[in-house]
Amino acid sequence: MRAADIIAAKRDSRELSAEEINWFISGIMSGHVTDDQVGAWLMAVCIRGMAPRETADLTRAMVASGKRLDLSSVGPFVADKHSTGGVGDKTTLVVAPLVAAAGVPVGKMSGRGLGFSGGTIDKLESIRGFKTQLSADEFLETVRKVGIVVAAQTSDLAPADGVLYKLRDVTATVESLPLIASSIMSKKIAAGANGVVLDVKVGKGAFMKTHEQARELAEAMRDIGRDVGLQARAVLSGMDQPLGWAVGNALEIKEAVQTLRGEGPGDLVEVALTLGSHLLHMAGKANSVDEAADVLRSVLDSGKSLSKFREFVEAQGGDSAFIDDPDLLPNAPVQREVTSSSSGYIASIDAEAIGRASVEIGAGRAVKGDSIDHSVGFVLHYKIGDRVERGGSLATIHAASSKAAEAVAPSIETAFSLTREQVQAPPSVLEIVQ
Ligand code: URA
Repeated sequence: MRAADIIAAKRDSRELSAEEINWFISGIMSGHVTDDQVGAWLMAVCIRGMAPRETADLTRAMVASGKRLDLSSVGPFVADKHSTGGVGDKTTLVVAPLVAAAGVPVGKMSGRGLGFSGGTIDKLESIRGFKTQLSADEFLETVRKVGIVVAAQTSDLAPADGVLYKLRDVTATVESLPLIASSIMSKKIAAGANGVVLDVKVGKGAFMKTHEQARELAEAMRDIGRDVGLQARAVLSGMDQPLGWAVGNALEIKEAVQTLRGEGPGDLVEVALTLGSHLLHMAGKANSVDEAADVLRSVLDSGKSLSKFREFVEAQGGDSAFIDDPDLLPNAPVQREVTSSSSGYIASIDAEAIGRASVEIGAGRAVKGDSIDHSVGFVLHYKIGDRVERGGSLATIHAASSKAAEAVAPSIETAFSLTREQVQAPPSVLEIVQ
């Protein structure tokens, strides 16, 4: 086979066989296929698309490029969760202890934030001593002992995704449904769980800007899962405004703890309970999703999920004292209010603009490898549909300096748009794809 023929086939909209896809991905890993050829092929895939069978074959080839964790010794069902990325998205920190406290082990590999969306690993690293880099043995031992592990994605699982993703980033080929679906699912399959719930974010602060695009991606990932024996369900959730109140690493950890205390923001609680109840149902711990939601609500009310979170933090080397005293988390020295210059109803809160402002203030990275400040970020005080009076505080900026706070204040203010008419609060959960 020749790389140029495979590129030409895709250029001319021909379906690639499993053998061609395997050959191409193996060639990428061995260096026989060059970066220029991969770039050309990615663009052809991006423009021409892939049939479901090709996407499944591409996913399988990416899984085969590395190791696959065997979690069968943990129990009959290990759960996993994935978010396509959003602003203020701390759901893993709520869903994992909830589900684990209800008796379903959760083994999850997570990412760092990149671009305007945050990452769970960065959030967890706000906790003093918390270890996110675990070996495969440590990963297994922790999930066996505690019922939860959340670790950084290791480079030996689906390494072809690492190579492809880096090239996609510089060749304008990230926004391709088969490439996104195979990238996410190859990592989920390699991480070894039996069932995964996919939180597909929809809206201005998400990869998928429309409900239709999100549904198509969710269906593609569910079908790939089915093909390889990984149960997958997707929850389409709103990202037209940040999730919860807090955006920024330590601030989001605080909000997750508040939520596990039963004092969380309504949208975060609803998304977390929905994701968690699908995992419980998939694991066979409830006869229906509604019954699973009732189980999780009583787990939350009993304080068991907060205890599980404490156990999890300690098992990964973290100092759990912040759970009782949140001021022990990194605190930014400067706090500045952003006030509203008019009265009205909140019509929209540009999640992407807030996410970009969080990068600007140091909570996220502009490019991979940048260092971040765990203490900084924003706490919003309004949601879409709320009424605000002139002079009311829209948000509090937590910054390293007054200068940094001043620099982002205009972006935070303009992220909020107001109207005189009453506005309906948007739903947090849009659709379930199963
Ligand atoms: N997340 C991933 O892991 N891969 C993509 O391609 C997009 C989002």
